[in-house]
Amino acid sequence: DAPKPLAGKKVLVTAGGTVERIDPVRYITNDSSGKMGFAIAEEAKEMGAHVTVVAANTSAAVPAGVGVVRVESTQNMLDAVLARFAETDIVIKAAAPADYRPAHRSEQKIKKKDETMTLELVKNPDIIETLGKLKTNQFTIGFAAETNDGERYAMEKLNKKNCDLLVLNDVTMAGAGFGTDTNIVKIFDAGGLVVSLPQLSKREVARRLLEIAAERLEGRGGSE
Ligand code: PMT
Repeated sequence: DAPKPLAGKKVLVTAGGTVERIDPVRYITNDSSGKMGFAIAEEAKEMGAHVTVVAANTSAAVPAGVGVVRVESTQNMLDAVLARFAETDIVIKAAAPADYRPAHRSEQKIKKKDETMTLELVKNPDIIETLGKLKTNQFTIGFAAETNDGERYAMEKLNKKNCDLLVLNDVTMAGAGFGTDTNIVKIFDAGGLVVSLPQLSKREVARRLLEIAAERLEGRGGSE
């Protein structure tokens, strides 16, 4: 049998786009299909890990053999992640949580009235930034979905969110980002670029990413 680099490790993956309700029939979300997160979950399981996925809105098939916790909003996702964080070795935030939610959620369907209407939004908590402040020995991996100045924003996010690794995808590139079966990523750590990968299946991206994480976790040994 092939060696299992994540044997005995607990891996928590987030996937999909969170949903922020406006009224009983309307909501705000984004194009995340869950494919990237589910590919990571499947590969982590293959590498021997015990895997839980916290999944928001997804269209992709859920991989077999991993636990799935369904959530709706960014706040729900934060709660589900926090509830499991202490016992987790590696957290991978492939989800696309909504950064803002409606300030008021109407209990009744909002009626059509004036020519214009304004929806007031308030900021959601940042899940991985919250983890970055709380973490003890957890290995945290963030993503950055960017359309411009990717490397600069990736390094800013890595530092601000205190991630061990950050995966940048330029979502304007064909074959990368939302909804596709492939991705084109650059992986960063605090020292800068670790590796720039060509267009690969999301499963292969997952494998390369998890190999780096496993190697670094191994390198920490029992010293923490
Ligand atoms: O699901 P797919 O269709 O396969 O698409 C994959 C993907 C494009 C969604 C994925 O590869 C990806 O880039 N996920 C991150 C999307 C995102 O929210 O990027 P961001 O740059 O806005 O956020 C940076 C990081 O902070 C991400 O790890 C994100 O999960 C996290 N975050 C963001 C907002 C928030 N409120 N809490 C968070 O934890």
